[in-house]
Amino acid sequence: MAGEKTFYITTPIYYPSNKLHVGNSYTTVAADAVARFKRLTGYRVWFLTGTDEHGQKIQRQAEAAGKAPREFVDEIVAWIKELWDELDIEYDDFIRTTEPRHKDKVARIFTRFHEQGDIYKGKYEGWYCTPCEAYWTERQLAGGNCPDCGREVELIAEEAYFFRMSKYAQRLIDHIEANPGFIQPASRKNEMINNFLKPGLEDLCVSRTSFDWGIPVPFDQDHIIYVWLDALSNYITALGYGEEGSLYEAFWPADVQLIGKDILRFHTIYWPIFLMALDQPLPKTVFGHGWLMLQEGKMSKSKGNAVDPRVLAGRYSSDALRYFLLREIPFGQDGIFSLENFINRINTDLANDLGNLVSRSLTMAERYFDGVIPEPLAADGQTDLDLRTLALGTPAIVEEYTGQLRLSDALTELWKLVKRSNKYIDENTPWDLAKDPANEARLGTVIYNLVESIRFIAVMLQPYMPRTPASIWEQLGISKQDELQSWSSLQQWGAIKPGTVVSRGEDLFPRLNLQAEIREMQGDKPAGQGSPGAVEEEKQEGLITLDQFQQVDLRVAEIVSAERVPKADKLLKVEVVLGGDDKRQVVAGIAEHYQPGELIGKHVLFVSNLKPVKLRGVLSQGMLLAATGGDGRLALTTVDREMPSGSRVS
Ligand code: MSP
Repeated sequence: MAGEKTFYITTPIYYPSNKLHVGNSYTTVAADAVARFKRLTGYRVWFLTGTDEHGQKIQRQAEAAGKAPREFVDEIVAWIKELWDELDIEYDDFIRTTEPRHKDKVARIFTRFHEQGDIYKGKYEGWYCTPCEAYWTERQLAGGNCPDCGREVELIAEEAYFFRMSKYAQRLIDHIEANPGFIQPASRKNEMINNFLKPGLEDLCVSRTSFDWGIPVPFDQDHIIYVWLDALSNYITALGYGEEGSLYEAFWPADVQLIGKDILRFHTIYWPIFLMALDQPLPKTVFGHGWLMLQEGKMSKSKGNAVDPRVLAGRYSSDALRYFLLREIPFGQDGIFSLENFINRINTDLANDLGNLVSRSLTMAERYFDGVIPEPLAADGQTDLDLRTLALGTPAIVEEYTGQLRLSDALTELWKLVKRSNKYIDENTPWDLAKDPANEARLGTVIYNLVESIRFIAVMLQPYMPRTPASIWEQLGISKQDELQSWSSLQQWGAIKPGTVVSRGEDLFPRLNLQAEIREMQGDKPAGQGSPGAVEEEKQEGLITLDQFQQVDLRVAEIVSAERVPKADKLLKVEVVLGGDDKRQVVAGIAEHYQPGELIGKHVLFVSNLKPVKLRGVLSQGMLLAATGGDGRLALTTVDREMPSGSRVS
């Protein structure tokens, strides 16, 4: 349709040489979030992913598994598709390079290159890294190994076809310089120009003869087309390149090609040169994101459950995994994946911030208004205006950041609204308003604003966490009202109708016990556990096992504010920080022993995984530990040297 906004986004096509780990899932989750975002904001989107199934690496892995290559890849491809289903990856097409629709076109592309003189026959003598499927010169090796992956390379000498890369090098340099958006993040651009293009681009070997798992050169059947030429072409063959009226005409050039930084060279040098040789426009942006690392180094499948994305999504929900991947690491940079960081994010951002906001708000709507959303007052107070202004301003910022692939920043921005909404509850103390019927209208406005703010948050959350908003719509009673879930509904405040009936559901994200999760997922059983001795001990009266003790998540917490709880002589309302943006409020029975002012800045021991309770109507989300003497004196427990807040106590 003329004038329609289109958006084409791709992921790398994965080698089905093994099951994917959580690091591999990273690109696809990011691409899916961006694709969903564009759909939500009115674009016609095409989102392509797939598998790169040919080449020596796959052939060898299949041999090692005692299977024919086709049978070998079929099983893994099925597993990968299940993974994408579990992670709610809504791709429009999944290309397999073994499909005829791809193979035929690659053969034709190769023939064209040959016919127009870009490809010539010669002999290749040099090094080859099979895991990377990459050629290296002697000079490029790092200590005799592959400079990219550090693994062993093989010396090969065989007749081969070559592509005249040098012919296009200057044109490519000019393109990169003239289009700052082409290679992203910008820091990666110089790496390509200085390390590969400026020193002089060697012609690329584009066929192999020593194995046969691949697409044969149509006019010289002893040769198999180099797997990277084969694979890179997927981005256009999948669109039906060369066919009249195909998707290619609607969607090429790609808007964003997402890849990991390790395959940048293939995508910003070889790929654009192949496209130039085909006389086709280059993708608008090739974005090389960073790597997800483990504390102990590179990720691999052998690390077990802790990196298996299907296990993680099954246990913690795909929304939690998606949120973590996109929020934790600024897109473009390397980051650490650890179960501990993951669980902490679930507990702070998802359970405490988002989950609590929804459950607190809807509990109050039910308690004070029988679940019927009240009519807001026309005259608003300052906190109402603040909340509304932030809510109305957030969509544009989230859209801008997502467009720039600053996905973590987009989520941080959205969480400002989540936190502001929680603060709005604390500022307006609805439980106090509820004590006097004269405040009913005001109380109604507060509840209305909370519900509307939750709706804003859920609309914006959809691309990132597709399941949670559905549960929120259900709880808000607007599952069937598509217009209230649309991006355009965020242009004005007040779309949710008074009279709508809400009903509080299950907690969106129950808090998790970090220690128990680590034990379960990593099998780190503390010494003595599981042995017959431990069972005996458990039976002894009054004793607990180490396991039981470790269920208590003890932390160092810094007190940042304290005030008296009105009409309660013994209670102080204390706010503590547990590191990062994890802030808690607790009600402590210490008012007779400490003045509020003397508490500020103290680092105290804190139980962080107690179920929240209300004391005198005030929410308490943990417990400060204190010693009590026989004489009735009380002393808070502190640490005996400076420790950062959030430090674990065990
Ligand atoms: N088949 C090629 C790509 C061909 S695209 C025309 C390939 N496949 S791969 O399966 O080895 O890697 C796929 C993607 O996973 C790459 O973008 C790579 O950067 C990414 N990752 C592999 N390990 C990763 C992490 N630990 N963290 C983030 N991304 C990671 O290369």
